[in-house]
Amino acid sequence: MMALPAFPDAFLWGIATSAYQIEGGVQEGGRGESIWDRFAATPGRIEDGSNAGTACDHYLRWREDVDLLGWLGVGAYRFSVAWPRVMPDGCGTVNEPGLDFYDALVDVLIGAGVEPFITLYHWDLPQAIQDRGGWAARNTVDCFAEYAAVVTRRLGDRVRHWVTHNEPWCAATLGHETGHHAPGHRDPVEALRVAHHLLLSHGRAVEVVRETVPGAEVGICLNLSPICPASSEEADRDAARRLDGSLNRWYLDPLFRGHYPDDAVTDRIRRGHLPGTDLPFVQAGDLKTIARPIDFLGVNYYSRLVVRADDDGEPVAISVVPKEELTDMAWEVFPQGLYDLLIRLEREYRPPLIYITENGAAYADGPDDAGRITDTRRVEYLRSHLSAAHRAIGDGVPLRGYFAWSLLDNFEWSHGYEKRFGLYWVDYATQQRIPKDSAFWYRDAVAADRTQI
Ligand code: FCB
Repeated sequence: MMALPAFPDAFLWGIATSAYQIEGGVQEGGRGESIWDRFAATPGRIEDGSNAGTACDHYLRWREDVDLLGWLGVGAYRFSVAWPRVMPDGCGTVNEPGLDFYDALVDVLIGAGVEPFITLYHWDLPQAIQDRGGWAARNTVDCFAEYAAVVTRRLGDRVRHWVTHNEPWCAATLGHETGHHAPGHRDPVEALRVAHHLLLSHGRAVEVVRETVPGAEVGICLNLSPICPASSEEADRDAARRLDGSLNRWYLDPLFRGHYPDDAVTDRIRRGHLPGTDLPFVQAGDLKTIARPIDFLGVNYYSRLVVRADDDGEPVAISVVPKEELTDMAWEVFPQGLYDLLIRLEREYRPPLIYITENGAAYADGPDDAGRITDTRRVEYLRSHLSAAHRAIGDGVPLRGYFAWSLLDNFEWSHGYEKRFGLYWVDYATQQRIPKDSAFWYRDAVAADRTQI
């Protein structure tokens, strides 16, 4: 296996998780219910019928998990704060034990030489807010700003890196248009309103971080994919443009250019997802708030999408490689897509800095008789994507760090526990963590690069 080339001196090596996927302890320490607790409790929503009541039991085992980070030698750890742990009702009352949990985690991370990157929202909305209309209600934006202020006031003396939202496309589209994620709605009109409120709340949270934590870096994580037409036919190329509009540009354009993409708005109007010719949920000043300068863009990259047009011209994703070559998510392994995406972002949007805030692959490999986990495909996935990232740096992309997804196998949303993304294998019966070959490989890659500094 080829070694990686040297990365620039300041390059940050990290690994990522999110609260709901690993913490468990959903009834502990005064935590309130989240929309994901409610969703997972609804029969038929989670493929394996599981829920995240215990997950990786990180709420109790977090010190052991910080030891794993120390062993890996990473310089940064991206994790999220569970809003319902901190504010069980979403707004108003603060639950101090919830804040204490993250406060202690931050101290121990810093003591271990690991820089905390905190995501404020990784999809676990307090159910109490959903009961008042969720992200479709504009008032939720104010609640989020209040929550952001509570968390940054408590942790901002030590935490220098803040992510407002994780993948607003998923929260809006999977949560409100396709129904695959909590709260499980299927209403494209509502999904656009939700996307706007998520973006607006991002802008408000940027303002909060700037006020509360002077000198901090703040940004947002987007799930971005290059969209490739399945053929050079006009219909397929237009389908690719459409999907690029709804998945990538619907978020990038407001954030970096201060407006929604005209062609994508027109597409939505044609489909009847917007009444008339405008965006009824946009109020004066909103786009200015959304486009407040950020310090970095977080890129979550897993794969590209190849699309053809269906009979109505709508994009349909197709697979162009044999099934055996796909990851367990049925995603194509396509490192060139990461390079192409980074170059495009640099050319078209010029973010001041980029971090790859998620990148990884689901493969089921478990322990053999000797207890070893030979996840060769994951090692190759990580290596090839890091090489692509390195090439992009060489070609001028201001990429400052990389976070592998994920530290542990965990609750993969609607897929439950069947999809394993961890560099550590988790035995859910005993909660034992076992390093996969990829954990050894990542540890060595990080160490080799850090000693080159
Ligand atoms: C991303 C999510 C993350 C994880 C990975 C596989 O969309 O941000 O929580 O589920 O996919």
